[in-house]
Amino acid sequence: MDINTYKAKGRIEHKHLLNLLDYSATDIYEILQLASSLKCAFRKGKKHERLKNKTLAMIFTKSSTRTRVSFETGIQQLGGRALFLSGNDIQLGRGETIADTARVLSRYGIDGVMIRTFKQSDVEELAKYGSFSVINGLTDDFHPCQALADLLTVYDTFGKLNGVKLAYFGDGNNMAHSLMLAGAKTGMKVYICSPKGFEPNPDITAAAQKFGDVTVTDSVEEAASAADVLYTDVFFSMGQDKDPKKESALMPYQVNKRVLEMADKSAVFMHCLPAHRGEEVTEDVIDSTQSVIFEQAENRLHAQKAVMCLLMGKK
Ligand code: CP
Ligand code: NVA
Repeated sequence: MDINTYKAKGRIEHKHLLNLLDYSATDIYEILQLASSLKCAFRKGKKHERLKNKTLAMIFTKSSTRTRVSFETGIQQLGGRALFLSGNDIQLGRGETIADTARVLSRYGIDGVMIRTFKQSDVEELAKYGSFSVINGLTDDFHPCQALADLLTVYDTFGKLNGVKLAYFGDGNNMAHSLMLAGAKTGMKVYICSPKGFEPNPDITAAAQKFGDVTVTDSVEEAASAADVLYTDVFFSMGQDKDPKKESALMPYQVNKRVLEMADKSAVFMHCLPAHRGEEVTEDVIDSTQSVIFEQAENRLHAQKAVMCLLMGKK
């Protein structure tokens, strides 16, 4: 089965979105099909107050532009409201535990909590102790919302997911992990092209390889050859210090015109953003007509609205 033949049921059997490991292909199709219809409605200016009076708390212990704005406007467009909780301003930043924070927020009738933070275990702990739905808005290990928005972008671009070759270049980070999982589950051919020492986590790679077609390589030619999507991300993720050794190891994995020419003629360039032009990608590629970076950024809104409806719309 692929996304084109899947008939949406309008529900998924999940309370949380923590990492996509426990999401099936059909769960992902449910999200993407709802996201497509919400995108259509958004374009036509149609309102869908599917989360009327629901409250989403948003905890950020790392910076954000897209995640914050797309979740906040997304819940408002669905008739709900958002509470922005900066990690520095709430007591979590002064040592209150995740478990106590979860138990307190549960007492106020919060319906969902989106959290962006460092440790994946903190997101899981929040889900364990809270009564609300938890959505992972990025950790050191995963960025599932971005991967879902990216799949929507691939689907909109190629009309399918099955068989699409996505080649990711650079640091084997949270983005690489979530793209491997989301791509493998939906029949994409995923190549992660990283220098030795900066490959994705081997346990996550092994998990993704059980679900589908995932190759980890250090050969730019092998990854880029006939690729439909060239994807990259920053050399240094939030929370990582600049390291000249890492920078020189990653420079040969930069997505530039030479790499673009190895890919399929109709290939697109993708980046989760924010980008560091001249580092992981050259200006001519990121600003080329093949670049779909702002479509990806917009799709955060639609994909996350779908996630919120499916997770928080149940109660
Ligand atoms: N791509 C992404 O998550 O962007 P922000 O860091 O701006 O939220
Ligand atoms: N890998 C990047 C993604 C930013 C959206 C980071 O974690 O900083």
